[in-house]
Amino acid sequence: MLLSSILVGGFALLASGMGTEMYTEPKTKITFASYLSTPYIFGIALPEKPGNDFVGIIVGKGTGYVGSSFGGPMLNALLLAVWPNGSKVMASFRKTKNYGSPTVATGDWSMKEISAGTYVNSTHFVYTFLCQNCMSMADGSSFSPTDPLAVMGFAISTAAPTTKTSLTTAFPRHSSQGSYQLDVTKGYSSQYASWAALANGTKPAVAFRA
Ligand code: HEM
Ligand SMILES: *[C@@H]1O[C@H](CO)[C@@H](O)[C@H](O)[C@H]1NC(C)=O
Ligand SMILES: *[C@@H]1O[C@H](CO)[C@@H](O)[C@H](O)[C@H]1NC(C)=O
Ligand SMILES: *[C@@H]1O[C@H](CO)[C@@H](O)[C@H](O)[C@H]1NC(C)=O
Repeated sequence: MLLSSILVGGFALLASGMGTEMYTEPKTKITFASYLSTPYIFGIALPEKPGNDFVGIIVGKGTGYVGSSFGGPMLNALLLAVWPNGSKVMASFRKTKNYGSPTVATGDWSMKEISAGTYVNSTHFVYTFLCQNCMSMADGSSFSPTDPLAVMGFAISTAAPTTKTSLTTAFPRHSSQGSYQLDVTKGYSSQYASWAALANGTKPAVAFRA
């Protein structure tokens, strides 16, 4: 009885966006408002007066791929797929109208790698990036910079992309997926400008610009 009411209370808290936790990436020390769920992390940092850019992080584990939906579901949302290619991290924007391998997405949005926070180690792959023009899509395919309850999606695959050396690869179906809520406003930081400035290089082979 007591246990069940604690559990119900816990789910209610998660459903109201209180699952958002602060995560500091160990190399860059950037702090993100994050969804933390081993083996997937997605986090964002924004200016105190947000525009349409954010600094983001995706962490995955192993040799498969992780995908993030900026809009929530898989369909008709901006997806970001990230996977390791040996010691390099690959990242590609995708979109699809059907359940099946999503094709490369083009639009006004773009991303730039933050190299200091992008790496593969013996257990994880980590992609830290500046995402420009990545929010407030008129078609609802991404979240809003002021939403305290943004709904986002994740996909985790233990199997690698079909051609992991290629940014335009096809993907096998993920092994698990789901959605979560993120309190975007918890990502506001006075340090944002210095973090965004870390995206100082162009790495077209890694951070695919559609
Ligand atoms: C052949 C490849 C793929 C197939 C067949 C596939 C199929 C599906 C299906 C059937 C669902 C709905 C599952 C359910 O609700 O029970 C789903 C959900 C999802 N997929 Fe995929 N998928 C593929 C690749 C990808 C990729 C590459 C990404 C990301 C880059 C992705 C991201 C998602 C997300 C975010 C969800 C939504 C989770 C949720 O809201 O519960 N998928 N996928
Ligand atoms: C690999 O990177 C992840 C993410 O930063 C970290 O949690 C983990 O401890 C690192 N593993 C090793 C062996 O350094
Ligand atoms: C993937 O890794 C291979 C082997 O290191 C490399 O030749 C190739 O250029 C990488 N692909 C991309 C797009 O960086
Ligand atoms: C980018 O900034 C990092 C960290 O400050 C620095 O190590 C790197 O040399 C810079 N790269 C370029 C291309 O300026």
